[in-house]
Amino acid sequence: MKDAPSSNVLTMGSTIDLLGQHHQDVLDRLAEVDAGLRTGGVFDLAPFAAFLSRDVCAHFAIEEEALFPIMARHLGTGQGPLAVMDAEHVAFRGLLHALQDTLAAGDVPGQRDAAAEIVHLLRSHIHKEDHVLFPMASHVLSIEEQQEVDRRAAALTHTAATA
Ligand SMILES: [Fe+2]
Repeated sequence: MKDAPSSNVLTMGSTIDLLGQHHQDVLDRLAEVDAGLRTGGVFDLAPFAAFLSRDVCAHFAIEEEALFPIMARHLGTGQGPLAVMDAEHVAFRGLLHALQDTLAAGDVPGQRDAAAEIVHLLRSHIHKEDHVLFPMASHVLSIEEQQEVDRRAAALTHTAATA
């Protein structure tokens, strides 16, 4: 019998695929920064801060405004995986502010500490999303809900592109 794609593959929300691709891009960037930090030499972290405030914050916006609210219908937000993801997004923003502040102040050790914490946090966070949250989304969301996530994400992407 010829292999046919499973219905799950056919109905997988494209936003979840897109977010997974973003994760790979972020992990590549984290690996570069981690390698730079480990050399102990001079290392300009301003481009990393710009990448975080632009690309990672846009990625978080898709999760927070398109994916998480639809998943919350099934999982709730007071506790459980969405509460953990939200708390880690808040922690990330705090560390990003610390990185920006230390860059502005020329505090090199502070920059390196903040960047190292961001690398650690994002690796752990992405691992949870890729291995727990996104498979859960594909499982609990109906086809209509996945399409709703896609529509919300498309509206956000359009808004960002025209802003
Ligand atoms: Fe993510």
